[in-house]
Amino acid sequence: MTTAKVIVITGASSGIGKAIAKARAAKGDKIVLGARREDRLQQIQKAIEQANGTATYAVTDVTELEQVKALAQQALDSYGRIDVWINNAGLMPHSLLIEAKVDDWNRMIDVNLRGTLYGIAAAQGIFHEQNEGHFINLGSVASLYSHAGGAVYSATKWAVKAISESLREEEAQAGKNVRVTTLYPGAVKSELVSHMTDPARREATDKFYDQFAIPAERIAKVVSDVLDMPADATLNEIVIRPSKQVQ
Ligand SMILES: NC(=O)c1ccc[n+]([C@@H]2O[C@H](COP(=O)([O-])OP(=O)(O)OC[C@H]3O[C@@H](n4cnc5c(N)ncnc54)[C@H](OP(=O)(O)O)[C@@H]3O)[C@@H](O)[C@H]2O)c1
Repeated sequence: MTTAKVIVITGASSGIGKAIAKARAAKGDKIVLGARREDRLQQIQKAIEQANGTATYAVTDVTELEQVKALAQQALDSYGRIDVWINNAGLMPHSLLIEAKVDDWNRMIDVNLRGTLYGIAAAQGIFHEQNEGHFINLGSVASLYSHAGGAVYSATKWAVKAISESLREEEAQAGKNVRVTTLYPGAVKSELVSHMTDPARREATDKFYDQFAIPAERIAKVVSDVLDMPADATLNEIVIRPSKQVQ
């Protein structure tokens, strides 16, 4: 039997974050949902509670450090500790570099990269005080290879890989029982593609996803496996692709 954990999830209003929230709430964990769309967070909290689970939420834009800190505080105020912090919020508006869609570049840098760092800033001190904690960071197969049209998304996800590797080493040196896991998913069904700003690219990516993408529950299953690992060992890096996805 495992002990209930307090799990904070950024980007919990849809897709992978929502699936993790529901899966872990069903296992008895206490879930703290963070994202910008309050109506979605309310719906998910309600669904978890209707299934006899426990959840709270804080409207959170991960590009604002004070809001990310407030999300951590909400967890402490509600449940007294944080066992797991999942840096999941992200977006993927692909475009060619030559198109110079600077606003999209900046949004990816702010959410995927800065948001991950802010999550670490908000939770690390709490983990050290507790002498225990677990970061789970969402990279992507785009952390491992790049392609035309995916430069900035890949750059932010390579950064997540780099940050996670350094964080793992620093935490091992600190000896504070803080674990670090990075996930590198391939195509997963979610709202990620619907937020792409280039209609032609969105349509092409939609077709690719329709063919290959796996349900977000597969990633939730991996997170459950990660969390159920005994504390003396950590699954540090996991690549999970649809079995038929080539790259
Ligand atoms: N789907 C895939 O194929 C795939 C593959 C590899 C990696 N990933 C990664 O998995 C993570 C989750 O993506 P997903 O596929 O589940 O996509 P999704 O359904 O679009 O979910 C993205 C989540 O991020 C949140 N978000 C966006 N901007 C935010 C901000 N500024 N502050 C706080 N939250 C923000 C969204 O909520 P609000 O809009 O309500 O704020 C939403 O809950 C991302 O990091 C993505 O890069 C996805």
